[in-house]
Amino acid sequence: MMNEKELCSKAVEAMGKAYAPYSKHKVGAALLTESGKIFTGCNIENAAYSPTVCAERVAFFTAVAAGERNFKSIAVAGGKDGIIGGAFPPCGVCRQVMAEFCSPDFIILVVTGNNSFKKYTLSELLPEAFTPKNIE
Ligand code: THU
Repeated sequence: MMNEKELCSKAVEAMGKAYAPYSKHKVGAALLTESGKIFTGCNIENAAYSPTVCAERVAFFTAVAAGERNFKSIAVAGGKDGIIGGAFPPCGVCRQVMAEFCSPDFIILVVTGNNSFKKYTLSELLPEAFTPKNIE
């Protein structure tokens, strides 16, 4: 069983793969499925800037492309030059992607230091979310 600290370590490890030559901010994410699998992602920037994708979305889209639809939690770590100097919380677009696939009690772990993280639910970070239910 994957515990929260281990998931955070996977996010830190994934941060090492970040392609962030423009912002120099490296980000890693580790997404845990209900079945116990982990999918990681890193931010991937682009010279044209707007094609840049966040670590969280890379993790989600990799998992969905592998057939996964049910998720338990995600850990996110980031910082300038890959040095974690506090929280690097998921952006609004990534929160919206989480709301597409996850319930309000989906857990988001935001790594804040070498051995520390903050724990939120999706509903805390994205209250009153617009979800697939709204267009049924
Ligand atoms: N970034 C992420 O990977 N995840 C977030 O939730 C926030 C922002 C990336 C995008 C960009 O490559 C860099 O961090 C600086 O914004």
